[in-house]
Amino acid sequence: MYAKETETDVQKWFLACSAGDIPQDGGACVKYNDKQIAVFNFSRRNEWFATDNLCPHRQQMVLSRGMIGTQGDEPKVACPFHKKTFSLKTGECLSGDDCTITTYPVKVEDGFVYINVASL
Ligand code: FES
Repeated sequence: MYAKETETDVQKWFLACSAGDIPQDGGACVKYNDKQIAVFNFSRRNEWFATDNLCPHRQQMVLSRGMIGTQGDEPKVACPFHKKTFSLKTGECLSGDDCTITTYPVKVEDGFVYINVASL
């Protein structure tokens, strides 16, 4: 049984794009106000993820163009600049560096991608 969504809950979900806008096993960048969010369609896993587009290593807006893959069972994205990898679930840097990215809940309904922006 699901808890009833309140109006406030509904407002936390940002309609980001159409699911068809994001390439299979790839990502794209969407803007929420002045924030850039990377959205990933990890179709091999049948999962969607959203993270900061900003790579914290050298402050580059590039993660949506990163290569996605898995490390063990952990879905990850590799920054295209210096290949540091981040968990798509937790945002933890899997390359051993002391930096993280923020991850956001994603849902796909009726062909549209929604990102939970409650933490922004
Ligand atoms: S800017 Fe992303 S790893 Fe260096």
